[in-house]
Amino acid sequence: MPQAWDAGEIANQRRWDELAPVHAKSYEEIQLLRDGGISLDEIELADLGAVSGKTLLHLQCHLGTDTLSWARRGAQVTGVDFSRRSIDYARQLQAELGLRATFIAANVYDLPDVLHERFDIVYTSRGVLCWLKDLTQWGRLIARYLRPGGIFYLLESHPICNIFEDTQPGPLKIAHPYFHTPEPTIWDDDTPDYADSAYIPRNPSHEWTWSLSDVLNALLQAGLHLEAMHEYEHLFDRRFPDMVPCGDRSYRLPQYAGKLPLLFTVKARLLKAPAR
Ligand SMILES: C[S@@+](CC[C@H](N)C(=O)[O-])C[C@H]1O[C@@H](n2cnc3c(N)ncnc32)[C@H](O)[C@@H]1O
Repeated sequence: MPQAWDAGEIANQRRWDELAPVHAKSYEEIQLLRDGGISLDEIELADLGAVSGKTLLHLQCHLGTDTLSWARRGAQVTGVDFSRRSIDYARQLQAELGLRATFIAANVYDLPDVLHERFDIVYTSRGVLCWLKDLTQWGRLIARYLRPGGIFYLLESHPICNIFEDTQPGPLKIAHPYFHTPEPTIWDDDTPDYADSAYIPRNPSHEWTWSLSDVLNALLQAGLHLEAMHEYEHLFDRRFPDMVPCGDRSYRLPQYAGKLPLLFTVKARLLKAPAR
């Protein structure tokens, strides 16, 4: 049975449906794919190694740019997102590029109603955790979809980024709590969209904060074994005004060099299938 959606999830789905056509025009990853390239980071490519022939489930895939990038690397991919408009664009891009992929429009928490196979890899990345209302259930879901021996991989902005005010240049100021609260924070302001600075989203976002230990404990409690966790000094979007570009669609904060993590990755393995 599909679960009752939280009011925040309903609002967020509206927001992502609004943003899908905006991102379909502004995501430079789409052109990268059209030019025969991929949108993935060297870090994740190295961490996951050869994926050719492996089955890969991508949670919260948005327009499918990363999903299709893994397909281009030879994985048999399934992308999931609750924004129907995002999934429509992902399917259009897939058809245009002639890559094989399955895209499913579903809330990740409702996935067990529509998807019943297990995968070699469960993958999720770049702006995914803040939309999740329940990490315990998320961890169980990941375990549910991995075959024994399968790998979970996460590449995400570091939770410490969430505590800072992010509109003003200058020294970072702590403005928000680090620790989780059950009620999401509602953001309803004139902050431009991260991919199109000329676009101000109309629909508010409802975002949950999760600490590093929340993420790791969700995976450990679901029976996954942690193989690696890394922290980095660059980020995939220009979260803070003082950030400067550093290589492939990444940004860093020169005044905090060596002092502040901005990105983290987790690689975990399921050794034994959980009891259903
Ligand atoms: C920032 S995007 C992910 C970014 C993506 N990796 C990319 O590079 O485009 C967040 C995505 O999560 C999806 N999402 C948020 N909550 C979800 C949920 N409960 N179930 C499924 N998808 C969800 C949104 O629709 C959106 O497409």
